[in-house]
Amino acid sequence: MKTSFPKGKIRVVLFEGVHEAGAELLATEGFDVVTEKGSPSEDALRAHLGEAHLIGIRSKTQIRESMLDGANRLLSIGCFCIGTNQVDLGPAGDAGVPVFNAPYSNTRSVAELTIAEIVMLSRRTFERSYAMHQGQWVKSASGSHEIRGKTLGIVGYGHIGSQISVLAEAMGMRVMYYDVAPKLALGNAMPSDSLGALLREADIVTLHVPATPQTAGMIGATELKLMKPGAHLINNARGSIVDIDALAHAIKEGRVGGAAIDVFPDEPASRESAFKSELSGLPNVILTPHVGGSTQEAQKNIAIEVSTKLAAFVNTGATTGAVNVPNVDLADQSAVTTNADDGASRPHRILHFHRNVPGVLSKLNNVISELGVNVAAQHLETMGQLGYVVLDVDPSNGNELKDRLNAIDGTIRTRILW
Ligand code: NAI
Repeated sequence: MKTSFPKGKIRVVLFEGVHEAGAELLATEGFDVVTEKGSPSEDALRAHLGEAHLIGIRSKTQIRESMLDGANRLLSIGCFCIGTNQVDLGPAGDAGVPVFNAPYSNTRSVAELTIAEIVMLSRRTFERSYAMHQGQWVKSASGSHEIRGKTLGIVGYGHIGSQISVLAEAMGMRVMYYDVAPKLALGNAMPSDSLGALLREADIVTLHVPATPQTAGMIGATELKLMKPGAHLINNARGSIVDIDALAHAIKEGRVGGAAIDVFPDEPASRESAFKSELSGLPNVILTPHVGGSTQEAQKNIAIEVSTKLAAFVNTGATTGAVNVPNVDLADQSAVTTNADDGASRPHRILHFHRNVPGVLSKLNNVISELGVNVAAQHLETMGQLGYVVLDVDPSNGNELKDRLNAIDGTIRTRILW
């Protein structure tokens, strides 16, 4: 089928060793895909931004506002990771460039690590192993417990928390959870009325809340004192949630029996930077360098999720899951019926990013009525200062409509698909 812009001319550049599944998916779409292992220099990135239609990065590459000026062909940016603060999201949105990420592709990886840590803490395995590395044979059942029948307290029953709930019950644990939002309890898990109630009852507390002003310092000296004597704490969520000094103090005093911590208030920027923490050297403490979600499977899932979103935006205009522009969920326009003579042509689809200010929509509708355009479908979403309207119109009307819409004051960008 003839398309508005030949797919082979859609240039995609993926940096930072994005998992090969991403390049494969985009190449299967017919796009021209280039991959680079590392993060580009600023100059190289500017050059790529001037030519590419889609750019894929992970967490190292910074795309700042000043770089977007010359990015005339850029349709969208894929962050092949969880976070998106390496991109100036506001300016990208203002340029009509959606930014996509993969917020939940590593859910299972975090859940599995957490389950493993529940067992390792309960058996004091790292402590025994460390002793052996030092030449000591500490063959003892002291302080070592099965997890069957123990109570797991999950704080934050979202994607990760609820997945852990299922796995923990399968291993014979009793599960309770605390969440600020009403959540459907899976299996036999029991909601807890308050964080305090959960802390008082759980043998192991695991945290799965986001970093927000409300969760900053959520577990400090007061909360640690509420925990059962000898209970364990796991934080594989965000470093701001736990007061590390208070936790170290509670472990030294023996009130907290052990901890597994993957995230820290100050995390080293690279392998070359030293790691320092009050928790270093304490007994029964598992320290991991923010690798909760870092598995090959998660990388593959991320690559597939972000590439799928990028391809959908190019092919249909769908912005579902974009973090910086209004989300419009769209099927392929061949699903839309038109009044075309041949009855088979799919409509022309006009994608119109605009400033969300009074008057733009009425001007848009005036253009439609002046041209006598038959609109088969219309979708509008707004987000702050941005509006995104998608029009499916009869095949003959597309180009003229696009030109007229581009001329409307407040238009950011118009694209046409057929
Ligand atoms: P989610 O958004 O699916 O779930 C979070 C849950 O926390 C929601 O149910 C929400 O209602 C609840 N919540 C929010 N504020 C709360 C509060 N003040 N008290 C109680 N509950 C509250 O998030 P998901 O995907 O389950 O991730 C959870 C955490 O794990 C996030 O902080 C995320 O950044 C982190 N994470 C860490 C990784 C790692 O490598 N260690 C990898 C992936 C995620």
